Amino acid sequence: MTKIPPADHSVSTAGDAGGVDGRLPTQGGDEADDRDHEVTYDVVTTPVLVIGAGAAGARVAIELAESGLEPLVVGKRDYGDAHTTWAAGGINAALGSLDPEDDWPIHAADTLNEGHHLNDPEAVELTAKHMPDRIRELDEWGMSFARTDDGKINQRYFGAQSYRRTCFVGDRTGEVMLETLIDRAQALEIPYRENVMITRLLSDGTRVDGAVGFDMETGDGLLFRTNHVVLAAGGFSAAYRRHSSRDDENNGDAQALALEAGARLLDTEFVQFHPTGMVGERYGDEWDGRLVTEAVRGEGGRLYNNDGERFMERYSPDQMELDARDVVARAIAQEVREGRGTDHGGVYLDISHRDPEYIRERLPTMVERFGDLGVDITEAPMEIGPTAHYTMGGVDIDFQTGETGVEGLYAVGEAVAGVHGANRLGGNSLAETVAIGKLVGEHVSEQVTADDRAPSIADGQRALAEREFAALADLAASDGDVTPETLLEDLGELLWNHAGILRDEAGLREGLDRLEDLRARTADLRVDGDRTSRSFEYAVDLSMSLIVAEVLLRTALERTESRGAHYRTDYPKTDPDWRQNLIVAADEGGLSLQRRGVAEPSEPVREALAEGYELDYHHLE
Ligand code: FUM
Repeated sequence: MTKIPPADHSVSTAGDAGGVDGRLPTQGGDEADDRDHEVTYDVVTTPVLVIGAGAAGARVAIELAESGLEPLVVGKRDYGDAHTTWAAGGINAALGSLDPEDDWPIHAADTLNEGHHLNDPEAVELTAKHMPDRIRELDEWGMSFARTDDGKINQRYFGAQSYRRTCFVGDRTGEVMLETLIDRAQALEIPYRENVMITRLLSDGTRVDGAVGFDMETGDGLLFRTNHVVLAAGGFSAAYRRHSSRDDENNGDAQALALEAGARLLDTEFVQFHPTGMVGERYGDEWDGRLVTEAVRGEGGRLYNNDGERFMERYSPDQMELDARDVVARAIAQEVREGRGTDHGGVYLDISHRDPEYIRERLPTMVERFGDLGVDITEAPMEIGPTAHYTMGGVDIDFQTGETGVEGLYAVGEAVAGVHGANRLGGNSLAETVAIGKLVGEHVSEQVTADDRAPSIADGQRALAEREFAALADLAASDGDVTPETLLEDLGELLWNHAGILRDEAGLREGLDRLEDLRARTADLRVDGDRTSRSFEYAVDLSMSLIVAEVLLRTALERTESRGAHYRTDYPKTDPDWRQNLIVAADEGGLSLQRRGVAEPSEPVREALAEGYELDYHHLE
């Protein structure tokens, strides 16, 4: 352990961050400058640091270990308790177990249609092509997929998919998948370090030399020295008031860290609102926004408004409840807005017309969770409403390699953008983690040289790390009047109201103004306690979320059309000229936005698109 002298109190400001106006100022003035922070930190060296311990990080690490490397995986939570565990209903692969006509080009075509053709076709095709093998691999590694009577891996309907393509384990698919990957990682003796929060990447803007963070249990600083960092730390949907994640995950760490390190972000305006989140007013705050899996609708669940009307007949008579998530979420929001919602601001989701035994077998978690809250879903409906669930936007990468354009920095999983375009097909998030995770792991393993196994620390990088430790110490010592929890709540409300399901110019501009006010309030932050406190964790979360909130509001303002999950009431039509990705970079002058054209899919996928495949809902009736 190295001791460093009292901090020089330089905190991460717009200038340090290369123009990202996001990191929290600590208490200003003489008082702060007089503080005497003794910061200690451990130095950890590793050939590859994987930041994020969910499915994407695990799959990358497995590939690295299988090629003979020993990566280190760090995660914010306990071992095995990543956000992946909350992905419930299934994982897509064109296996054709029940519908033999299905094939990878149709999976790719469905993904592009759902993504409103803003997806990176290469990313989509790699995912669709590789998924059957990834499912067979998970099966070999012991994942207990549901089976058909003749022993095939069973597949269910999910929204906007032409065929039954979603493989599942009841409604615990993500949880069981992560357990399977962790078992595999343990068999390969991959080192994990839990309860570690990474706060900065060591980068000069062109290459990455490691990362800085702290141990959330001891408060000790951690300097990770490595020439290869894989960001697999999820998205930023938890920045919204109502969201399906836990409060302490998906706060935008990956995107904020990448942007500060010199990487670009892409399509951050696209946030998926899942139609069916639990309604807190009915079930209690702790459940507000938590996911009611799409599998309920995939197994035949129906939506009713407060008048008992099956309202999807008006919005989508052919695809009904299984239309794309953005369509169903907007329909629910409209029912509520027009006064046909429940007293708690939701609508009803009902599957009680199906056989109770079938419901118990296919949806055991839903049966148990609602049962604990006094609702027997085999007999009564659930109250649900839209919830921020997934961010299609993220780090801009090359999908063959995971490279970000900053040497030594790679990204994967929900951290990145490209597979899902303007709206994600349900069941494709788990698919992306393993399909692309394996490819990124393969590529990174080829980049690691003998020298990378024992990297040294350049003086400049150590100084950068020490400034970050000093900034963290200042942050922990903040003794103002406003708590990070309060500001996170206010930020969530701001995004929900100004960058929610329906957006317009006036609302987005007001959101940006309010964000400035909110940022100003961070000068009066109070962090109760040391670096092991929840309050400190929230303060760091806040610093990340403020960065992504600004990027999100700015890109949503810039995109003057409606497409997929981004709905502008002042530009309600999709504009063909806007079939372009929006790239965000941080430079001296702050954030810069640029457009980039989208590539065309390959011949087999173009043919599948031309065939016009789509889900025929009435199979389910
Ligand atoms: O509804 C769900 O089970 C979610 C799945 C997904 O987002 O892919």
